Order: sequence, then C-alpha cells, then structure tokens
Amino acid sequence: MVRLLSSLQIGKFSVPPVFLAPMAGITDQAFRATVRDFGVIPTMTEMVAAEACLRRNPKTLQMLRFSSEETPKIVQLVGKDPDRLAEAAKASADQGADILNINMGCPARKIAQGAAAGAALMRDPSLAKQIFHAVRRATPLPVTVKMRLGWDAQQKNASEIARIAEGEGLALLIIHGRTRAQFYTGQADWIAVGQIKKAVHIPVLVNGDIQDAETARAALEASGADGLMIGRATLGAPWLPNQLKLFVQQGISPTPLPREIRLQTTFRHINRLIDLLGEEKALFVARKHLCWYSRGQAHAATFRARAHRAASLEEIWQYLEDLFALQNDP
Ligand SMILES: Cc1cc2nc3c(=O)[nH]c(=O)nc-3n(C[C@H](O)[C@H](O)[C@H](O)COP(=O)(O)O)c2cc1C
Repeated sequence: MVRLLSSLQIGKFSVPPVFLAPMAGITDQAFRATVRDFGVIPTMTEMVAAEACLRRNPKTLQMLRFSSEETPKIVQLVGKDPDRLAEAAKASADQGADILNINMGCPARKIAQGAAAGAALMRDPSLAKQIFHAVRRATPLPVTVKMRLGWDAQQKNASEIARIAEGEGLALLIIHGRTRAQFYTGQADWIAVGQIKKAVHIPVLVNGDIQDAETARAALEASGADGLMIGRATLGAPWLPNQLKLFVQQGISPTPLPREIRLQTTFRHINRLIDLLGEEKALFVARKHLCWYSRGQAHAATFRARAHRAASLEEIWQYLEDLFALQNDP
C-alpha cells in the first residue's frame, strides 16, 4: 500500500503532490499541455537563464509564455548573481508567473562550471542564501528551489541549504537524490532525501528514478517526502504523472492505456509543437518524441527509421498510423 498524500499549499495555490520535472528541450508548452490533458499536474518552464531573460532573448521570452490553462504558472530561473536573478524574478512576475523556482541542481558543464550556476551554487551556501533573499524580496510570489544532494560525495550539504532556504521563507524544496558529480549515473538515494526532509518543516518533493507506481511508493516510503517529481519516465508517456497522482492520492493503480488514446495523444502533442514552433522546427523536435512514443512497441525500429527520413509531417502521420495499427491493445 502506498501512503496516501494530500495536496500541497504553495502560497495561495493548492496543488497535487505529483509534479512534472523541468527538462530543457522537452517540457515546453506543448509537452506540458499534453501532460495536463490527463489531469491537473503542476508543471514548470524549462530552465530560463536569468541573463537571457533580462536581455530579452526571443527564445527565452517564448519560454516564459504560458497557456491560460496552465495554473499555477511556475518559472524556473538559472543564474548565479543574486541581483540579476532578482531582476529576472521581477520580469517573470511581469510575464504572469505565479511561483518561482531556483535551479540549484543542473549538473551540465556549461551551467555548473562555465556559468558557476545550477548545482555549483550548492558549493557556496552564503551565495545560496543571498540568492534566496534577493529573489524573495524581488516579488511577492512564492519561491521554491530544486537541488541535488550536494556537489559530490564529500560535499553533501543539501540539509544545510534546505535549512537556509526555509529560513529565507521558501515555500517548497525539490530534491534530486544524486550529487552533481553523479550527473545521472548510479541510483537516486531516496533515503538521503529523507534526511533533508527531516531537517526542515516546509514541503519536500523527492525526485530521481521514479518510473512507475512501485518506484513512486518506494521513493515516498524511503524519503517520507510530501510529494514527488517525475521527469524522464514521462518521455513518450505524458499520462504518467496523472496516473501517479491518482495512485498517491487515491491508491488507484495505473493501468496501460488503449492504443487509440496513445495514438491520439501523440498526434495532439505533435500538433501543439507545430502551433508553437512552426512545421519545420516542429518536425525536428517531433522526431525525438516519436522515438519515445514508439518505445517498446512492435516494429518501432522500422517506424523510427521511416520517421527519421520523413520530409514532412504528413508522411510521419501515415507512418504513425501504420505503427499503431500493428499494435495489440494492452
Ligand atoms: C534532458 C533533461 C533536461 C533537464 N533539464 C532540466 C532543467 O531545465 N531544470 C532542472 O531543474 N532540471 C532539469 N533536468 C533534471 C530533471 O528535472 C530531473 O531532476 C532528473 O531528470 C531526475 O528525475 P527523473 O529520474 O525523474 O528523470 C533535466 C533532465 C533531463 C534528462
């Protein structure tokens, strides 16, 4: 049995305890809307670089655009300078953000070493404190943070940063149970997330390697967390967050989706990409999603090869229908 969870209060918003993880290049407006077709799920932007936001980079500004149905609108900011992050927080609020999230978990070299942001901020607790303070003061919006266990095995200081965050009035912590040095290797340590949960009184979400009801149950049990965040397992399965929400809030176990719904979901997602990006760019982005949607299906390899060569979305539509026609319903 899973321990049943209540909704979480973040500022004035009561939200389900299962969040979609931000994933750069994946969780754009089109994907987030497709996740929310299945039920209310808190979603956030991909990481938005504070500097690019303040330079009004067109691609970044597009990331700050939300559909009216996306409530609350959560913006994730990445950067290292407290004042610039505070200015970007104000700009996000002006664009309609309801909640802010600070990225203290990104391990990518360009961010964590090049820009000394993301997970690198965990190495400097006094800078982390200044950032929390500056962003909190910049707007009345609730501020949350997403972080890792620490920089590496020798510097697992997430509990310290969590206490600082709580002291600065942050509303929610999200912990990916790996260090920066691990990137995505090894196993997320949900027990270590539990130690951080014990260090604070604000809600904590456990993140990392949750793939299905069984791993959701195990992660919640090991960490004692108030909710969970799920990323990679949603690729090609945008219905999963809502299934896990029903599982952790009502004890309803997920069942496989009929192929007709999976096919319609794929079409809807790709159509949204076209609306968002235009046909040419959508075709490029759609290819990776089509690989994920076809994963585990009979004749997926043939489909992928055809989709990869396809010159138009009409061609892909046809291949997709052919693929789904070859599948048996679960
Ligand atoms: C392709 C990709 C892009 C990501 N981009 C972001 C990001 O923009 N911001 C962030 O906080 N985490 C990002 N992450 C990390 C995820 O949000 C999440 O913490 C991580 O994937 C672990 O959760 P999972 O095992 O459920 O995928 C990204 C992960 C992946 C795989």
